[in-house]
Amino acid sequence: MTIADLKKKFIEIYGGTEEGIRIFTSPGRVNLIGEHTDYNGGYVFPAALTLSSTVIARPRADRMMNMIATDLGIQVEGSLDRLDEYKALKWGNYQYGVADELQKAGYRLIGCDLLYHDTVPLGAGLSSSAAIEVATAVTLVSLGNTAFNVERPIDMIEMALISQKAENNYVGVNCGIMDQFASAMGKKDHAIFLNCRDLSYKHVPLNLKGYSIVIANTNKKRGLADSKYNERRSQCEAAFEILNKFLPEATCLGEISMDDFNKHKHKIKDETIRKRAEHVVAEDDRVLRSAEALNNDDIALFGKYMIASHESLRDLYEVTGVELDTLVEEALKVDGCAGSRMTGAGFGGCTVSIVREDAVGRFIDEVGNGYTARTGLAPSFYISEVGDGGRELK
Ligand code: GLA
Repeated sequence: MTIADLKKKFIEIYGGTEEGIRIFTSPGRVNLIGEHTDYNGGYVFPAALTLSSTVIARPRADRMMNMIATDLGIQVEGSLDRLDEYKALKWGNYQYGVADELQKAGYRLIGCDLLYHDTVPLGAGLSSSAAIEVATAVTLVSLGNTAFNVERPIDMIEMALISQKAENNYVGVNCGIMDQFASAMGKKDHAIFLNCRDLSYKHVPLNLKGYSIVIANTNKKRGLADSKYNERRSQCEAAFEILNKFLPEATCLGEISMDDFNKHKHKIKDETIRKRAEHVVAEDDRVLRSAEALNNDDIALFGKYMIASHESLRDLYEVTGVELDTLVEEALKVDGCAGSRMTGAGFGGCTVSIVREDAVGRFIDEVGNGYTARTGLAPSFYISEVGDGGRELK
């Protein structure tokens, strides 16, 4: 749908004219490498997509925040004064959560009518939720700033942090900062090298020298992913608590080197907990090496780290599953595929592969056929373009 179509649709639903309508957008992301490291104070290397959540917005005179989704046909109405009442909503809870955290942080909001148009596939590990959260944060703050004559520019890192808080506190998923940060701070044709401990970051040009990023969706619904995610997170905390006794200087797993880990890992008696920590420490190291490989235009080496990352997520962190493993195995059979791995939280969702441009068509055919033959599921493919972060569309 074009912006003109969306405005027309908005007026059909909410009435009025084009006057006062504003448009905001924020993207999903693909993580190239650095999985389950963010909440351990480690490094991640995501890139914002051009798949996004777009919000058509118009302020209201009262305190109602009304929302509709173009694709789902869902309509919800809520008051900015009763935000603790909407936590159980299946759709709309992310947005009310963001409004709640914004108000708690001191932002003055006004009522509004909102129409959401989301092109990030839902629940596929491409951060559809972060896209909605950050788009909502930018929308609400922009409308409030205009209504109350606030001139301060929007702090996008703060929008990311508030969106993450909404997901932690309102939705109840203990996610890290990667997705919201990538959505808020993305830059066209760049990946983001982010240190999740202090949020220092660098935009790295994504010059893949004749290779494309291909995303493949397992199209497997993610069951129980949230509770397993929270479980992995507490296992990492348990591992750190033990290691920290012997490495008192470290403040998180992300600060522990491979050498130190190897010296002390036998102190973690529970094998599962030890495996979780080993993944995190090694993955963190791989992010640093991958960024260096990319900097040296060494796509083959970058691909090798991606493969090692997937194996570690499969064997040590145990968040892949048969669908993601099959997609990666089929991808690696294709001549011209430099590397492939799951991306996002896991338990279903998507893989990301680096594929030589001239091999992309063949890759899609062969991986699609191989995957369907082995799982009975039809995958979807997206040739991803790397886009900008959250903003108003003028
Ligand atoms: C989800 C979370 C992120 C991150 C990834 C795993 O996408 O929202 O914070 O932990 O999983 O790397």
